[in-house]
Amino acid sequence: MKKLRLGLIGVGQMGNRIIQLAPERGHTITAEFKGNFPFTEERMIQAKDRVDVWIDFSHSTVTEKVVAVAAQYNLKLVIGTTGWYEKMDEVAKVTESSEAGVIWASNFSSGVYTFNKIVDFTASIMSKLRAYDVSIHEIHHNEKRDAPSGTSKTLAETLLKHYKASGLKSKIAPFSPGNTELNKDTLYISSSRVGQVVGTHEIMFDAPEDNIFLSHEARSRNGFALGAIRAAEWISTRKGFHNIDDFFADLMDGQE
Ligand SMILES: NC(=O)c1ccc[n+]([C@@H]2O[C@H](COP(=O)([O-])OP(=O)(O)OC[C@H]3O[C@@H](n4cnc5c(N)ncnc54)[C@H](O)[C@@H]3O)[C@@H](O)[C@H]2O)c1
Repeated sequence: MKKLRLGLIGVGQMGNRIIQLAPERGHTITAEFKGNFPFTEERMIQAKDRVDVWIDFSHSTVTEKVVAVAAQYNLKLVIGTTGWYEKMDEVAKVTESSEAGVIWASNFSSGVYTFNKIVDFTASIMSKLRAYDVSIHEIHHNEKRDAPSGTSKTLAETLLKHYKASGLKSKIAPFSPGNTELNKDTLYISSSRVGQVVGTHEIMFDAPEDNIFLSHEARSRNGFALGAIRAAEWISTRKGFHNIDDFFADLMDGQE
């Protein structure tokens, strides 16, 4: 495996975990943008020649600017930051217009990737059963800024694909306490923020007779950090705009 020089945009909970785990895979951190030395376009450009792959776990307001620099200088970038997805089309277009390599995921853990596949399969059955309603609940630590979580939105899209086909649900919305009227054709995502919870996602299929409950609970941030490091290794030899499916397809084939 090629030893990489990694540049970190954001050194919080996730960035620190990457600093701990990257050396175990032979990589070195050669640039860090954080609280007292934040990301700016100029700083990223100045550091570009000492970084093989950039990893962004910062804030949604930063991501679009990071991608613009990556595209301008044909850099490699892993985007772990969530909350920027309404800019997805623009970010994809900017990347594709260059020789840059960008991979993004709302969740880099292989467990969550597998969970999404389980949800996909389950929804293919449950969406045909009118008796069962469906909802998502996500729980995270009390410092998480965005809600609903990026992962819950990805899971919601997976469910909606099947529920649209069966005509039972047509859209996704966050559930806010105080909603007086719930639409039966909306797939709701509710959120809790409490203590140190790393990330829990629950899907409930509820009928008058019983309840089917799927859940994924992250035990630490190591799964996300290790996935992001492996994604950095993967994107280091590729170009274009990729989601997690492209990366995990190779991982599961044993190619990575
Ligand atoms: N894709 C995944 O697998 C995954 C997993 C966990 C968290 N996340 C997402 O990653 C992001 C970061 O999560 P976290 O738990 O590390 O948060 P955090 O708040 O602990 O860390 C974010 C860091 O980014 C820094 N930051 C903010 N603006 C910056 C700027 N302009 N330049 C440089 N640094 C800046 C902050 O100072 C902070 O240290 C969030 O969007 C979160 O939802 C994604």
